Amino acid sequence: MAFPRRPSAILRYTIPALLLALTFYILTKQTDLSSQISLLLRSTPWPTHGSAEHPIDRLIKTAEKEFAIKIAKSTETLPAAAAAYRQRRGRHPPPGFDKWHDFAREKNAIIVEDFWDQIYHDLEPFWALKPARIRKDAREFEMRIEIRDRKASTRSDWFWTQIWLEMIQTIEHLLPDMDLALNAMDEPRLVVPWEEIEGYMKKAAKTRKLVDAKRVVSEFRKLPPPGEEPPEQGEMEERRWEHDKHYWLIARRGCAPSSAARQSEVITNFNQTPFIASSFDLVHMQAGYVANYTLSSSFCHQADLQALEGIFVEPLSVSASKHLLPVFGGSKLAVNNDILLPAPMYWNAEERFTGAGGASIPWAAKSPTAIWRGVATGGLNRASNWRSFQRHRFVAMNNASQLADPRRPLNFALPAKQYPLPPSSSPSTTTTAITTTLAEWISTAADIAFTDLMCAHETGGPGFWPGGCDYTSAYFAPSPPLPMAEQFRHRVLPDIDGNSFSGRYLGFLRSTSLPVKATLWREWHDARLVAWKHFVPMDNRFGDWYGILAYFVGGGGGGGRDGVGERIAMEGKEWAGRVLRREDMQVYVLRLLLEYARVVDERREVMGWVGDLS
Ligand SMILES: *[C@@H]1O[C@H](CO)[C@@H](O)[C@H](O)[C@H]1NC(C)=O
Ligand SMILES: *[C@@H]1O[C@H](CO)[C@@H](O)[C@H](O)[C@H]1NC(C)=O
Repeated sequence: MAFPRRPSAILRYTIPALLLALTFYILTKQTDLSSQISLLLRSTPWPTHGSAEHPIDRLIKTAEKEFAIKIAKSTETLPAAAAAYRQRRGRHPPPGFDKWHDFAREKNAIIVEDFWDQIYHDLEPFWALKPARIRKDAREFEMRIEIRDRKASTRSDWFWTQIWLEMIQTIEHLLPDMDLALNAMDEPRLVVPWEEIEGYMKKAAKTRKLVDAKRVVSEFRKLPPPGEEPPEQGEMEERRWEHDKHYWLIARRGCAPSSAARQSEVITNFNQTPFIASSFDLVHMQAGYVANYTLSSSFCHQADLQALEGIFVEPLSVSASKHLLPVFGGSKLAVNNDILLPAPMYWNAEERFTGAGGASIPWAAKSPTAIWRGVATGGLNRASNWRSFQRHRFVAMNNASQLADPRRPLNFALPAKQYPLPPSSSPSTTTTAITTTLAEWISTAADIAFTDLMCAHETGGPGFWPGGCDYTSAYFAPSPPLPMAEQFRHRVLPDIDGNSFSGRYLGFLRSTSLPVKATLWREWHDARLVAWKHFVPMDNRFGDWYGILAYFVGGGGGGGRDGVGERIAMEGKEWAGRVLRREDMQVYVLRLLLEYARVVDERREVMGWVGDLS
């Protein structure tokens, strides 16, 4: 694969008009780390350990309530599940719902209708398309799984397809005929413009009704064998694909016209310290910490993320479409219209993603520190853009020597806002003392390093340079890789997105360590997990990182809330063992595919399961 160079020289950087004044102020300050920190410290509260309620204490209490409300909705019987379905979805359950329910009960699944919200989010716009159009797009897609006569098969030997096939084969005896189009890439494929999705949603809403039970059709239709479908009636619009590597331009069309992402100036020069606009986080943060995790992972109100995330700057590959196509994949951004399946590495449960060997180390035996090891992914990092990559930013801000040297020109962005640093010195101490304190503390509290700098060769694609990397090796020293089981000897596990979602997250949740999750990616399981109850959420700017770390592991003048960290780690583990099992993936996929088979059927508006109503 070739990676053409972007003509960055001719591109220009224009400061977002709305932020002009603030930008200028911060950028001029950013040549000097210590003055920036002192500026920030003066303007932020300084909660001390052990005294008044910490903002994180409050967020944890709210999470407890949210979780209790969710779990109180669980149902035991088929009629109760069907009633919960009708209430939440406004339609009858799909044909086969009774079989689905039997299957879920047999697998000991917790049944809370909200757990399947993602399916309805993903499929709802398809109710506005003609079923024949969706079926045609599916059977003509580059990679497919076909289901006929309760047997799933594929002609692709791509390893992801093989894993998904294996997963689907475990439920094939319960599935009607269908063709599934699968995304073979790391990156998601579809961004239908916001305005079009609005139109589809309005049209789909008109189909949402509970038809008279006597009229309901409860059988799926059989499909002709693959390749033997009759030709379509009439003209069908051709599907087009875009390959512009500046993915921000594609992604933001999925945001509302009034959103910051659509309104803000587009940044095209990434050859500088990126600007972090913490004003954008006010919507989802409370007193400096993430209060609405779903919103924090949605970028439409956070225009500065266009220069803070590799996916927006230069992904490894882009093949995107504006058309609403029925493409299934493992993860996506909030605006993508792909349909989520559990990611292949979750189903496969390889050691490198689970760290099974270390998953039960007792909390007390772990070092009270944070650890992170990973490759410098995020996209194609080059001399002219690496400062805008999330992993580079995160590793740099955990580097004591970079923090300790206030004269050094900043080569990464520190968050523009900092919440409780280790409170051994008061905010009035000299700035040098504060940076030294932060550096000393981070060097004992966190062990964070790349294992490979993954630089772009000037001649082409990414790769390992035995001698390092000519543009990032001055700032990062790669460490040898550390098996996940070894990482579990540390209490805190930050999880930072790579080229797309981080495949180690499920392993982190299942461990007895505490996952701290910053992400832009959506996954099948999102509705099952409650932030601050099962894991710790982090803003994608990482401005809350020092505060989170200080809260849990302590530092400077205060001890951490060690017991709180242990409780979240253990509750996350226990909950993952109840609702993120392979069985739960089967139950999810079975529900998803019954819905999908209905929405691609001409009779969909009268199809359903009404066994409880007659
Ligand atoms: C998070 O924000 C979304 C969008 O504004 C809102 O619908 C949702 O209720 C919020 N969630 C919580 C837990 O506040
Ligand atoms: C920390 O930063 C210094 C430069 O200030 C660099 O030489 C060193 O390799 C970095 N350490 C790590 C672990 O990346």
